[in-house]
Amino acid sequence: MNKNNDIILTGDRTTGQLHLGHYVGSLRSRVQLQEEYKTYILLADVQALTTHFDQPGLIADSVHQVTLDYLAVGIDPNKATLFIQSMIPEIAELTVIFSMFVTVNALRHNPTIKNEARDRGYTDLYYGFLGYPVSQAADIAFCKATLVPAGEDQIPHIETARKLVRRFNELYAPILPEPRILTGERLGGLDGVGKMSKSMGNAISLNASPEVVKAKLTKAKTDPARIHRSDPGHPDVCPVFAYHQLFRKENVDEIHASCSQGKIGCKDCKQIAGEAINDLLAPFRERRNYYEQRDDQVKEILIEGTREARRTARETMLEVREAMGIQYFKL
Ligand code: TRP
Repeated sequence: MNKNNDIILTGDRTTGQLHLGHYVGSLRSRVQLQEEYKTYILLADVQALTTHFDQPGLIADSVHQVTLDYLAVGIDPNKATLFIQSMIPEIAELTVIFSMFVTVNALRHNPTIKNEARDRGYTDLYYGFLGYPVSQAADIAFCKATLVPAGEDQIPHIETARKLVRRFNELYAPILPEPRILTGERLGGLDGVGKMSKSMGNAISLNASPEVVKAKLTKAKTDPARIHRSDPGHPDVCPVFAYHQLFRKENVDEIHASCSQGKIGCKDCKQIAGEAINDLLAPFRERRNYYEQRDDQVKEILIEGTREARRTARETMLEVREAMGIQYFKL
């Protein structure tokens, strides 16, 4: 099975359902990676608290929904370990240790933190929010993960994780591997402004019905320079063309040509893109439906996965304490 010894860890903040951007950016590669590598997938509910601490109900509900999203896209619980972050206290412990050797300024200069703080209108930063890359480093290190499939916006966080494990290894003992990131593709939003994101309202959720997908595409922005149907289009700047490229690769050249020559209208083009997306989502809907009827099975998957992750976390924390010489006695 294992081609090499890479260990995969990745996950998502549980602040709502996942969408097509998540699929293209990371879920798709996880489904492939689980076939060959030890794969851990975390439901990052603690990280969700850093921005949604006043909505714990939403977070708990999202744990369930995101689990369904995972199972729907084809994460196989017999191959990947799905677990809940807040149920692994060792991650919190390792976060505290890592937080000793990261500076506030290093975190303040993290571009993803900066952008998120700006988008959320934070003037002063919550301690937990500023520190979430440290907690993310602990997510990665507790299972000695070496490869993290994630979106481009996660690059600074993985860099922080690399620095922290390197520092740990220098200070105490070389027991933690340096992780690498594996970035997926970036998907633009339906509004043609920035990436697909739930908070921007420009996303297609993975559990969208065929009608919703069609309706969303109907409203999608296209090449703004194309006013009349006969105007030549500019597919390379058209948000809908990007969906053709990602979801219906077979006739993408044809669409490119007919759009550039003003032969296909945006309405027809959107309809084809909508069909391609619906074809992708159809098997997801079926699997989601299967698991939606089986709450106990879903719960069992999370219990099993969390138990396994916890065993790994205990072993690593013991090594961490021994490396630091603070494993005073057994309790
Ligand atoms: N920060 C990630 C996101 O916003 C979620 C996450 C938490 C994560 N811990 C992680 C991703 C560890 C990769 C590895 O999507």
